[in-house]
Amino acid sequence: MALWGGRFSADSSSMFRQVNDSLPFDRVMATQDMQGSIVWSRALNKAGVLTDAEQSQLESALNELIAKAEAGKLDFDASPEEDIHSFVEAALIEQLGDVGRKLHTGRSRNDQVATDFRLWVREHIDSLKQDVIGVIRSLLNTASRHQQAIIPGYTHLQRAQPIHFAHWCLAYVEMFKRDLSRLDDLRKRLNQCPLGSGALAGTTYPVDREAIAEQLGFSSPCLNSLDAVSDRDFVLELLFTASTSMMHLSRLAEDMIFYNSGEAGFLQLGDSVTSGSSLMPQKKNPDALELMRGKCGRVFGALQGLLVTMKGLPLAYNKDMQEDKEGAIDTVNQWHCCLCIASEVLDSLSLNETRCREAATQGFANATELADYLVGKGIPFRTAHDIAGKVVLVAIDQGCAIEELALDTLKSICDQIDDDVYTVLQLEYGVNQRNILGGTSAQTVTQALYQELEELDKL
Ligand code: ARG
Repeated sequence: MALWGGRFSADSSSMFRQVNDSLPFDRVMATQDMQGSIVWSRALNKAGVLTDAEQSQLESALNELIAKAEAGKLDFDASPEEDIHSFVEAALIEQLGDVGRKLHTGRSRNDQVATDFRLWVREHIDSLKQDVIGVIRSLLNTASRHQQAIIPGYTHLQRAQPIHFAHWCLAYVEMFKRDLSRLDDLRKRLNQCPLGSGALAGTTYPVDREAIAEQLGFSSPCLNSLDAVSDRDFVLELLFTASTSMMHLSRLAEDMIFYNSGEAGFLQLGDSVTSGSSLMPQKKNPDALELMRGKCGRVFGALQGLLVTMKGLPLAYNKDMQEDKEGAIDTVNQWHCCLCIASEVLDSLSLNETRCREAATQGFANATELADYLVGKGIPFRTAHDIAGKVVLVAIDQGCAIEELALDTLKSICDQIDDDVYTVLQLEYGVNQRNILGGTSAQTVTQALYQELEELDKL
């Protein structure tokens, strides 16, 4: 019989059960539910509801259940219960009889689920942080393996200015560091304890909410019972953080798919993270990267879905809120897998430094250098820009690079151009001129790389 069967005379329909039951997915919070129950039994004991003996029976039964849950020995599929809370309670009643029936005194599944899910999210924040740190580590290692390499930098996917490959790696490091700090922020905000808020109005039993919060590792109790049972901001923030990070992974994937293309040929991916074609024997496809990009759809969908679910809900708890779980569970799983596979892809890649250099030299990516050179000769930038543009036109016409034009030709466009221009037009020259904080010179990039490597140990 359901926990709430008393006032019902007919059974639930099987379709209702299919729509209503959450045990098929909220079983992932089994240990969190049991930990919450242990702390609740202690609170009831202090409040005079449970004797010492009853409390200790409950605590050992719950500890046994935790061990079973961790060993994967709980048979959820055979259970008639609707959710993880009733599953655990039913197991206690089966084992302890009336003592089990006392545990739910002063508690509601509403403050229970809010507590369990916070604990579940908090645990995953901690493990996801390690996954993000793993990607940062792989990016830094990849940068270290190719410290001298220069690739074309793009805007509008047109070759713009040459950059160090390590500079590109470090750009993604910045993004993933922001993801880490979002996880930290989210953890701080979610770390308040709803238990003791009852169904919506608080509880009549004199439980020590501060002690409950502390024992479950929360920094304080939630301050308003209505808000405590109906707040799902912490799930939304998790989904937003995951979405933002998946967007970062997707851009990383997109860059690498392009770098790996036959057209660019900058890098090769390891066999372990690519697949072949069933028809075309020559193919080696960047599937891992495409899936990192593709899985954004469902993660962004989970965020959007929960926002829409929450937006019209009156205070306090409504069953709509049970819809917070499947999207979040799937998101955590997908995000975890994508972070791990991103690390594997980075660890497996080999950069074709010669090809990168060739591409960085092509496409007139040193035209800005020429303009800056003319500025150095006292020409205003706007005029210098125009002259450099004319030089590019002539080079296009002659089918060569700017530095391949004869000095006479250059002089015919601007007679202030001298022999020293050829130094300025060399690849390393332009790159290393950007010797400014955040810039792409060898010196700044090396400095930034070492700093990040040092900070990695503190993350
Ligand atoms: N399974 C529900 C959820 O995940 C918790 C149960 C609350 N049920 C209730 N009838 N108030 O949100």
